[in-house]
Amino acid sequence: MRIVIAGGTGTVGRHIVQAAQRRGHDAVVLARSTGADLTTGAGVDAALDGADAAVDVTSVATMSESNAVRFFETTAKTLASVARRTGLGHLLILSIVGIDRAPYGYYAGKLAQERVVARAETPWSIVRATQFHEFAGQIARQARFAGVQLAPRARVQPIAAAVLAEHLIDVLEGGPAGRAQDVAGPREEQLSALIREQVRHDGHRGGVIPVSMPGAQLRAMRKGAVLPGPDALRVGPTFAEWLSSSPVQG
Ligand SMILES: NC(=O)c1ccc[n+]([C@@H]2O[C@H](COP(=O)([O-])OP(=O)(O)OC[C@H]3O[C@@H](n4cnc5c(N)ncnc54)[C@H](OP(=O)(O)O)[C@@H]3O)[C@@H](O)[C@H]2O)c1
Repeated sequence: MRIVIAGGTGTVGRHIVQAAQRRGHDAVVLARSTGADLTTGAGVDAALDGADAAVDVTSVATMSESNAVRFFETTAKTLASVARRTGLGHLLILSIVGIDRAPYGYYAGKLAQERVVARAETPWSIVRATQFHEFAGQIARQARFAGVQLAPRARVQPIAAAVLAEHLIDVLEGGPAGRAQDVAGPREEQLSALIREQVRHDGHRGGVIPVSMPGAQLRAMRKGAVLPGPDALRVGPTFAEWLSSSPVQG
C-alpha cells in the first residue's frame, strides 16, 4: 500500500514510517518540514495523490483548549476534504484513551478531531491509545526550572510508541474499522515516578519534586480519567523495560 503518514517526522510518526517500510509499504511523509501543511492546505493534494491510506499523527504543543480545537479541527477538515477529492480508501487517526472523560485543554482538540473524521465521507478508523513511554520525558523537559525538576502527578498506563506504530500498521492493513479497540501499555504507573526514573536515566542528580498541577485536564488525569478500560488491548514493554534500552536524552 501507499501510506501517507501525516506527522511522520514526530515521536510516533517516525516509528510508523519505519514499520510501514519494514512491511514493504510505500511510506509518504506529510509534514511542514517536508513541504505540506495541514493548517493551510499547502502541498496536501500532492502528498495524497495516488495514496491508498493515510494516518494522521500530527500534533500541536499547547494546553490551551481554543488553540487545540482550532488546530485539530482545521487539520482534520483539510485532510478529510483532500481525502474525498483524491478518492483515498482509508483515513486513520490516532486519538487518546479517555478524552471524553477529560474533555479539557488539549483533549478538547482531540475530541474535535474525532468528530470531523467520524463525519468524513472517506472510510475511517479512530484508534485511541494511552500516553507514550516518551511522554514522561516530554513532560519532564517542560517542567524543569533553573535546575529544579518538577514532576506532575497523573495516573497513566503508557505504551511504547514503536509498538503502537506496529499496531497502527495492523489497523491500516485490516481496512477501515470505525472506532477501533483502544490500546494501552501493560500496567498503570504514576507519571511523577516515571519522570523521576526518566531524569535519573538521563543523568539528573538534583531533586525531583512531585506536584499536583492546576487545570482541569491534569486534575482529571490524577483521578484516573485516561486509564484504559477492561476491553483495551494491552501491550508491553513496561516503562522500566523500555527505559533500560533507551538512549540518554540531553
Ligand atoms: N504523546 C502522547 O503520549 C500521545 C498519546 C496518545 C496519542 N497521541 C497522539 O499522537 C499524535 C502524535 O503525537 P506525537 O507526540 O508523536 O507528536 P509530535 O512528536 O509533536 O509530532 C507532531 C508531528 O506533526 C507534524 N505537524 C505539526 N503541525 C503540522 C501541520 N500544520 N501540517 C503538517 N504536519 C504538522 C510535525 O512535523 P512538522 O513540525 O515538520 O510539521 C510532526 O511530524 C497526536 O495526535 C497525539 O494527540 C499522543
